[in-house]
Amino acid sequence: GQAELGPYRHYMQKEIFEQPRAIADTLDSVERIHPELFGDEAAKVFSQIDRVLILACGTSYYSGSVARYWLESIAKIPTSVEIASEYRYRESVPDPRTLVVTISQSGETADTLAALKHARGLGMQHTLTICNVETSAMVRECKLHFITRAGAEIGVASTKAFTTQLVALYLLTLTLAKQFGRLSAGAETAELKALRHLPAAVRSVLALEPQTIAFAEQFVPRDNALFLGRGLHYPIALEGALKLKEISYIHAEAYPAGELKHGPLALVTDAMPVVTVAPNDALLEKLKSNMQEVRARGGVLYVFADDDTHIEPQPGIHVLRMPEHYGALSPILHVIPLQLLAYHTAVARGTDVDKPRNLAKSVTVE
Ligand code: G6P
Repeated sequence: GQAELGPYRHYMQKEIFEQPRAIADTLDSVERIHPELFGDEAAKVFSQIDRVLILACGTSYYSGSVARYWLESIAKIPTSVEIASEYRYRESVPDPRTLVVTISQSGETADTLAALKHARGLGMQHTLTICNVETSAMVRECKLHFITRAGAEIGVASTKAFTTQLVALYLLTLTLAKQFGRLSAGAETAELKALRHLPAAVRSVLALEPQTIAFAEQFVPRDNALFLGRGLHYPIALEGALKLKEISYIHAEAYPAGELKHGPLALVTDAMPVVTVAPNDALLEKLKSNMQEVRARGGVLYVFADDDTHIEPQPGIHVLRMPEHYGALSPILHVIPLQLLAYHTAVARGTDVDKPRNLAKSVTVE
């Protein structure tokens, strides 16, 4: 009820603003990086794996997609990530030395549970879940688990569950890196410090809400939107597009920016807002040339830039500048203004933000 919502209009807005607390709670018991974060048997299990297979649905699939970049670049472990409903029905080649990681807010998603059982049926016994509900079927079914401390998530569109999943997946990355001798003591200290600074960093991103409201006003009359990102931030573009479509009902699509010329550029006109997730990473220069291609066709750009991205606002180029540059953890921060953009666009369009039409919080039937 209203009492629970406090100053917020919807659960989704409340949950977006709870993210500093949710992340802090998820990190609360983490004093150092060690396998026991994932269960008593974790050290033994981790010594028996040399690849990772991530299975999930919806927003949880996008956190897994970010984790693939982390696991391969930091822990150097071959990682694949697959939509649970696809994996469970296709013929795949099992490898018993695989750590099967399921990600689920509810722990009750039918396809993710079935995909887990399918993997086990193929002889893959090393299972770990990252889950927000300790008493769920998923936690019971997996050998290892990490419980995110987002707390109950009521808005159908996932927000705080997603960012806490990312924190858990980063911890898994560091743990596996350490296990495989790829994390020095100095690096461990620096990584833990960066993680502990996240709640404060998220707070300063939340302070950009007024700018996301100004952007949202321009999205309200639109029928379509395109989201572009590269690398680690491509899944963030996907998540931004998913948030916008599920609660505002604006058709939104995300593309890896390098694919622009292979199709979506044909759709760009002055009626097509184009969101770019533009942290100052190795791919920024490439993204900038994609942005010029959009401008040349009249597309209006909404650039979610970093503190040190040198992109200035101009006619047709709106820039939201993030307060700081956060390296590998940057996806956790960059998703937040996209959550706010979707939220405020939906509110202005008058949709039922917390319970969008046709969608359920937890999909427990196929
Ligand atoms: C539904 C929810 C999404 C969620 C997805 C997967 O579609 O609306 O917010 O990401 O299910 O749910 P899970 O509980 O497995 O993360």
